Amino acid sequence: MKTSVYKISGNTSDVETEYIKEAGAVIRNGGLVAFPTETVYGLGGNALLADASEKIYKAKGRPSDNPLIVHISSMDEMKPLVQNIPDSAYALAKEFWPGPLTMILNKSEIVPYETTGGLSTVAIRMPSHPVALAFIKEAGVPIAAPSANVSGRPSPTKAEHVVCDLFGKIDVILDGGIVDIGLESTIVDLSGDVPMILRPGYIDQKMLEDVLGRVDRDPTLDKKVTEELKPKAPGMMYRHYAPKGELQVVKGDMSLVVDKINELMRMHAENEVGVITTSENSELYKYGKVVCVGMRENEESVARELYSALRTMDEFDIKYIYVESFYGGRLGDAIMNRLMKAAGHNVISL
Ligand code: TXA
Ligand code: MG
Repeated sequence: MKTSVYKISGNTSDVETEYIKEAGAVIRNGGLVAFPTETVYGLGGNALLADASEKIYKAKGRPSDNPLIVHISSMDEMKPLVQNIPDSAYALAKEFWPGPLTMILNKSEIVPYETTGGLSTVAIRMPSHPVALAFIKEAGVPIAAPSANVSGRPSPTKAEHVVCDLFGKIDVILDGGIVDIGLESTIVDLSGDVPMILRPGYIDQKMLEDVLGRVDRDPTLDKKVTEELKPKAPGMMYRHYAPKGELQVVKGDMSLVVDKINELMRMHAENEVGVITTSENSELYKYGKVVCVGMRENEESVARELYSALRTMDEFDIKYIYVESFYGGRLGDAIMNRLMKAAGHNVISL
């Protein structure tokens, strides 16, 4: 399949307007378009068309019981998709939409089960990225979009990642440069009695509680998945976000962590081992591939660069990857959630 890649910044030049028009038409004709959002790149198809959702699963190699998030560009587009919109959804939308928050609600009949992975609920999000909003509006239909990576690989934070995973498998890639946040949206389930966080993200528990009062957190989130212990968001079950090499998280007092990682790295050949660190510590590693994810002090930079760092390790064919842990701070929960999953809960505690 021919894949067109268009550079687009979100301004309103004639050329960019043409690209958005073409992308919208591709969606209306049942095709697939990768597009930037403020969290990660999405792989979009018409959410109301079972065939389009099936194409998405196929392009990603994703299990079809893992539901897709439906992206909208205005509140009016939400009404036909859900049975009834609870007050909590209006309150959250007012505060956080457009933005990095996904809400789970009871689906209406027009949303096909192919889009929701067979569930009677639907995940809905209004992204804030100007290209995403313009593209959804132009398509004129809600857009089902998982992250635009091959299933199991780290989510794409740049168009180059999408090209690497999906070139030749989809119709269009809208290249809007590097994303802003770098971790997928917070998912909150509003279909039960008490709102529940199914995936931590940029909007944290405290921010949700400030709007809704009590908010729970899926208790399985921090645990290793077993037959008895399955997370409520089917996608959180898979060993997602993972690099090809074996990843281990090393946690504890930072000076001990650095010493331990240095010791572990020297047990492997220099070209087979690497560490993911921040600029505060990067000089302390003299052996193996050292990849820096911004500054520990600035956790937003860590979130933005984490998936790219995991991909870099793949590019260099690194077989043993060590990563410092990132507890604390508002984004610490989301960063560690992704890292622990990427590592299959393989942790060294000092
Ligand atoms: O930031 C994001 O949310 C990005 C961008 C593209 O918007 N999208 C994204 O999609 O991360 P994806 O498919 O990679 O992750 C969707 C997650 C999965 O864990 C899935 O199981 C969960 O959302 N999900 C979707 N619908 C659900 C539902 N009805 N009930 C429970 N979990 C659901
Ligand atoms: Mg994903």
